[in-house]
Amino acid sequence: IPVDPFDLVIFGGTGDLARRKILPGLFRRFCAGQMPPEARIIGAARSDIDVAAFRAMVAEATQEFGGGFTCETGTLEAFLEQIDYVAIDARGDQGWAELQEKMSGKGRVEAYYFSVSPALFGDLAERLQKWGMADQDARIVVEKPFGRDLETAQTLNATLATYFDEHQIYRIDHYLGKETVQNLMAVRFGNMLFEPLWNAQYVDHIQITVAETVGVGGRGEYYDKSGAMRDMVQNHLMQLLCLIAMEPPARFDPDAVRDEKLKVIRALDPVLPHHIIRGQYQAEPMNEANAPGYRTAVGDARSRTESFIALKTHISNWRWAGTPFYLRTGKRMSARSSEITVVFKETPHSIFAEDAGRHRNVLSIRLQPNEGITLGVTIKEPGPGGMRLVDVPLDMTFADALGEEGADQVDAYERLIMDVIRGNQTLFMRGDEVEAAWAWTDPIIEGWEARNDVPKPYDSGSDGPTDSTELMRRDGREWRKVSL
Ligand code: BG6
Repeated sequence: IPVDPFDLVIFGGTGDLARRKILPGLFRRFCAGQMPPEARIIGAARSDIDVAAFRAMVAEATQEFGGGFTCETGTLEAFLEQIDYVAIDARGDQGWAELQEKMSGKGRVEAYYFSVSPALFGDLAERLQKWGMADQDARIVVEKPFGRDLETAQTLNATLATYFDEHQIYRIDHYLGKETVQNLMAVRFGNMLFEPLWNAQYVDHIQITVAETVGVGGRGEYYDKSGAMRDMVQNHLMQLLCLIAMEPPARFDPDAVRDEKLKVIRALDPVLPHHIIRGQYQAEPMNEANAPGYRTAVGDARSRTESFIALKTHISNWRWAGTPFYLRTGKRMSARSSEITVVFKETPHSIFAEDAGRHRNVLSIRLQPNEGITLGVTIKEPGPGGMRLVDVPLDMTFADALGEEGADQVDAYERLIMDVIRGNQTLFMRGDEVEAAWAWTDPIIEGWEARNDVPKPYDSGSDGPTDSTELMRRDGREWRKVSL
């Protein structure tokens, strides 16, 4: 079903994110018949190029990054027809009158995507207002990093609030746009089976792992000032934690969902220094040239920034008191795999005298790749040897279960941009959520800085420093294997 006609302005339209994600994503939605013919996408950037040159860039980007799908309802040429461009100066006056003129269409959704450095958010917001484009229906979309600590996030929120109401601000965390991340909510709240057991009485612990095989690549300059805590934990892992731990919202609507997520963040215990492990990857043995270590990649032989985090935290509320949550994320790990694992408690009493094992049901939700669910159940080991038990997986891959529909996944950005046009904020972060997440993260980072903490080295292709394994072992637990 097509969305309402819209004008989407992409500030930073020639930038990396626009080329890799936003524009190819829009092309895919066009191909799926979701973009109405009256809709317009207006690139706005500093480059002094004309519309033809911008369209050529868009064409190239869709080829390079949008591949692997067939366009059923149109051609690339027809898509390009809907694209326009304005050369604009975010800090000056150049281009704004032209943009204003292009935006004078009535009865259309107006959205402005700030795909630029956060340092420019305030300038853009101010100019949108000055040039009469910040009316009550306009929407703005902002990317992470949303601040680098509580103070900068508060300043950013306050600046945006000068020009826009909260219901107009769409803060993107692209993890919320992932199909399987939304499936977390479907699994929890669409089934009777899980929710009654979803609490400290039945759950031993929960693990969240987001492992990547890539290193920092060409993003060293940004990454070295952030580290895994700011880059992944404060946002993506925090959102996963919220969805897995929150109370059932009364409705699937923006504020009902976000209120519940906020309560989780506010109930998080501070993390004790010995419950958090920082790591930094080292070069792949014998392969330094192709796969440099972290410090070489960022060009700072003494960098103390972490590319890996493992931590244990608790949520102090009735549902979760006593159930630890273990979070882990890192770059250059053994496999690309994001997974949430709920480990249930053992049965209170075993009736099978011959069986000496410990059996626990384990529910694993694979977010990427190979999206699906595995539930470990305990059954009888076959054979005449008496009642010995064995754990086997009930395994379901969504692509197998859903056939073609399951295979053709909508990219996170496509979904989120369409949600902006539909005016649905459910999958976007509210200002107070972001601030609460920083309020939990800040003391951890300040602690490292005060202690001059140096991350533990780990080999590229491994699953982080051995201390991460120790963190679990001390508690009589172990991480689920990363490579499946
Ligand atoms: C980004 C981080 O937000 O998420 C990157 O800045 C990280 O460092 C990326 O690689 C991971 O996203 P995905 O969708 O590849 O899991």
